[in-house]
Amino acid sequence: MLTKRSKVLEESITLAIATLANELKAKGEDIISLSTGEPDFDTPKAIKDAAIAAIEKGCGKYTAVAGLNEILKAIQAKLKKDNNLDYEISEIITNVGAKHSLFECIECLIEEEDEVIIPTPYWVSYPEMVKFAGGKPVFIEGLESNGFKITAEQLKNSITNKTKMLILNSPSNPVGSIYSKKELSELAKVLEGTNIMVLSDEIYEKLRYDDFDFTAFASISEDALKRTVTINGLSKCGAMPGWRFGYMASKNKDLISAVKRLQGQSTSNICSIAQYAAIPALNGACDEDIKTMCQIFEKRRNLALSILDKIPNISVYKPEGAFYLFINIQKVEKDSMKFCQKLLEQEKVAVVPGIGFGMDGYFRLSYATSNELIIKGLERISRFILNYK
Ligand SMILES: Cc1ncc(COP(=O)(O)O)c(C=O)c1O
Repeated sequence: MLTKRSKVLEESITLAIATLANELKAKGEDIISLSTGEPDFDTPKAIKDAAIAAIEKGCGKYTAVAGLNEILKAIQAKLKKDNNLDYEISEIITNVGAKHSLFECIECLIEEEDEVIIPTPYWVSYPEMVKFAGGKPVFIEGLESNGFKITAEQLKNSITNKTKMLILNSPSNPVGSIYSKKELSELAKVLEGTNIMVLSDEIYEKLRYDDFDFTAFASISEDALKRTVTINGLSKCGAMPGWRFGYMASKNKDLISAVKRLQGQSTSNICSIAQYAAIPALNGACDEDIKTMCQIFEKRRNLALSILDKIPNISVYKPEGAFYLFINIQKVEKDSMKFCQKLLEQEKVAVVPGIGFGMDGYFRLSYATSNELIIKGLERISRFILNYK
């Protein structure tokens, strides 16, 4: 009864773990969840105030499919100010979260036989979206000591005459590594002269530590600008994951028109109130909130790393961004699913198995939670690893 394409979809492992942890918590179990993929901070006041004002003004009508002119202008200005990118209003569209942006983009660009290069470990949804569209994910694994970032040489060796797209995610989920401008320039050079599109998922752009710089892939060169779809949103950096606000920008007007048609025939515009609410976030009214959030995340990252450092037989890359640690447990257990299930059963700590990100022998820990829970959770993880059988 179900279509072939719906059967290829795996359940999102991150959402499944979060649901299980919440169910166990509701039953009264003392669960510590270090699996969340969202900031634990409340949405900044300027965003909430803008939403309340929009509701009171009666702004609950349909808007244009791409979004209100005001929001498109705010995105355009943000891309210029933060990323030095020049996009026309007709080259931008808002979507129901960056996940929706990625999904629609892949639906409009990928079909049977097309190959999509995805660096491993990857964010859980990329391969599923590619498979749903009929395409074939092609995985490349970078060096762990380099935050699993891929090199120009690796990219060159993975390109075939079927390659249609490269998906880049920087800062990355689950590792938290960030590509430098030089690294991106080297990748961009390899793509010159090809028809390969780049989906640059920049959702963690502002969550960076140790003053690490961020470069948008499209800003590397004229060539990179033409082949890139810039994907971003406010779930992480605006602490508004449930509001579902994402967007894409591309110089490929045919692509944006196709996405508008797809969206126009499926979801229509995104929530009008979320659009009004996002304007101050994009205009910089929440910059201080984001700065505070980053300072706290940086301290938590350092705290978690200092505890992990004392646990034998594991290792971890020190991330420059996002709010995750991707922990190597190969010396303890190669089967990450088994490790995480036992950890949840025995020590009541929820983390995400590396296999969900395409890499067994690792797990992802999120430090988007309080110092107290990070310490308590890591004490339990430490005890679990020391006694692992
Ligand atoms: C790398 C990456 N891209 C995209 C998303 C989706 O974000 P949104 O909530 O805007 O759909 C996530 C969320 O976890 C993510 O980690």
